[in-house]
Formats: sequence, C-alpha cells, structure tokens
Amino acid sequence: MLIFILLGLTFGSDICDVSVDGGICLYEGESVIKPPAKLSSLTGYWTFDDNKGLDYSGYNNHAKSSVPAGHSSGGRGSSAKFSGSEYFEVPSDDSISAKIFSITFWVYFEKDDTSKSKETWCPILQKGDDDIENLIYERTPGIFWNRETRALKVYVTTTESSDFPEGEYVESNARLLHHRWNHIAVVRTQSKIKLYVNGIQDNSNSTSGWTNPNESPLYIGGTPATIEKCLLHLLVDETRYYEKELSDMEIEAEAAGALGQVEPRFIRLGCVDCTVSTAESSCTSDYHLCTSIELHSGAYSVARINGWTELNKNVWSYSALETDSESNDQGLGLCCLNLG
Ligand SMILES: *[C@@H]1O[C@H](CO)[C@@H](O)[C@H](O)[C@H]1NC(C)=O
Repeated sequence: MLIFILLGLTFGSDICDVSVDGGICLYEGESVIKPPAKLSSLTGYWTFDDNKGLDYSGYNNHAKSSVPAGHSSGGRGSSAKFSGSEYFEVPSDDSISAKIFSITFWVYFEKDDTSKSKETWCPILQKGDDDIENLIYERTPGIFWNRETRALKVYVTTTESSDFPEGEYVESNARLLHHRWNHIAVVRTQSKIKLYVNGIQDNSNSTSGWTNPNESPLYIGGTPATIEKCLLHLLVDETRYYEKELSDMEIEAEAAGALGQVEPRFIRLGCVDCTVSTAESSCTSDYHLCTSIELHSGAYSVARINGWTELNKNVWSYSALETDSESNDQGLGLCCLNLG
C-alpha cells in the first residue's frame, strides 16, 4: 500500500500539518476515515464543532478567525459563542458570492443589557462591508436583528442601489424568543427574498433589482463596522451556504425539532391584522383556518414560539367564522394543514 503524505502544501499550513490524498484506512479497512458526504450545491458548511471555523462543504471556505465554543443546538459538538467583541470572518470566494442562494443557521440569543449598546439593529450574518461614514453598503445578504422588538430584517444589495442604498429587504413577522434555539433560513431567488423561521415561511418580499454580489468577507456573529456599537450575546450553530434556492421541504427537513413535536408543515401564518373572513381566505388550498382543537394541539404554541402572538393576541378560530363574520375585529389568522 502506497500513501502520499504532503506536508501542509495544499492549503494554509496553519490549518494542516499533514495532507493525505484519499481516505485513511485503519486495521486494513476495518475502520475508514473519509471527509463527510457532499450535499448538492452546499458550498459552505460551518459546524462550529472545531475551534477553527472549518468549512465541511468541501469548498475550503475556512474562517480566518476563531471564536470561543458555546453549547450546541443539537446536544452534540459545540456552537460559536459571541459576546459582542468578536466575529467570524470567512474570506470571499466565488462559491459564496452567488446571485441566487440560501443561507441557513441556528441562533440562540441571550438576554443582555441593551442599555450599553448604541444600535438597535445589529448584524448577525453579513457578506460584505458597510462603509457607514460614506453611506456605502454591501449586504449580499445582511441578516439583522432588532434587539428591542426581536424582529429580523434581511437585506440584499441589488442593482437598484440608488433607491435602496442599504439594500432591498424583508422584515420578519416573527419575534425571536430569547434563550431558545431558533432555526433561520434565508432564500434569495431571482426576484424575491424569503425568510423562514423554525421551518415556516414567515415573510417574503419582491425586489426590483438583481442581486449585486461583492468581494468582501462573510461575517458571522457581528461585523467590523458594528463591533463597538452592537454588544450582542449570542450563539450560532450549523451555518450553511447553498448556491441554490432551497425548497420548503428541504428547509423543513433541516429545521426538524425547532418547534418541538409539531412539524413545520402543519401550520402557516395567514395574516396578522385581519378580520375573520380575510383570515379564512388567507389560507391557501391545502390549508384551512385552524379550529379550536388544532389551536390547542400545537398551532397556538407555534404562534407563541415564533412570536406572532406578540403582534396580535386575538387568534381567530374556525368557529368564529359563524359568530364573528360581520365583526370588524382584527386578529391573527393561523392556517392548519388539511389532514386526510
Ligand atoms: C418590502 O419592500 C418594500 C420596499 O420595496 C418596503 O417598503 C416594505 O416594507 C418591505 N416589506 C417587508 C415586509 O419587509
């Protein structure tokens, strides 16, 4: 058996002491060490189980900086822990500068002392640098969190930068709870920005320009431009960059467990401030306005976890269609999947 061992030649010798062109077999193949399987279009995958920010996609998008380890989202390995003074930096590469892309990750916000922070909207993931003094922004994308309302806002810099210097955007209906792991997915299609929270599409917006990619680094947990103004305490885990649009099903599969026992497909957000009849018509063909039993057996708890009940405490149930059909009261419309 012939093994070629290259001494740290292929990539940064600070990452590898030994490089092997192939798997490693132990005890004549009783045990084999190989890199993880490649998922189609996955061009960046940071598990944060190592302390170097290594990319497990096979595209060598390893981070330049490392951050301390925190508790993991799935009970195995570790996450990246940010305490306001650090961020994760991945050098730019064509494989993470796509025009159509998806980014997914798990995030856990600690409740911190907001009085020390000068900013309300803070970046938790951004590809690009903001030059705040000269009002030049690169956000392809920029995923921001409002530490007061707990809403998310996703920016994409487009060719319409004269109308939208900070980028075109979508803001979430969701209000993320502190002290729990939330799964976030952002999908940039040709003409839309879609935002998913815990496997459920939370909001989307159309854009008038085309994506404008940039050659600046990808930052996670904070950015150089905001590091002194945003003293965010958070954990980030399992971050993935795909050079394609993810489907609803792929996002649901990744977000498994984010809503406890309830599968994300079971519920959709119909509308936030609407009469009961508008609420009913907001449910698409496979869905209906949730009944009282359905509200009690999961739908209401999903609405609480995603923070929709903070937008409107009045949640419509199917039976209100009879009793309140003439009323102008505004409520939250939750749609439940038609079963059977
Ligand atoms: C969608 O984008 C428009 C600007 O084109 C903005 O005014 C609006 O607030 C956005 N909607 C959401 C939900 O973010």
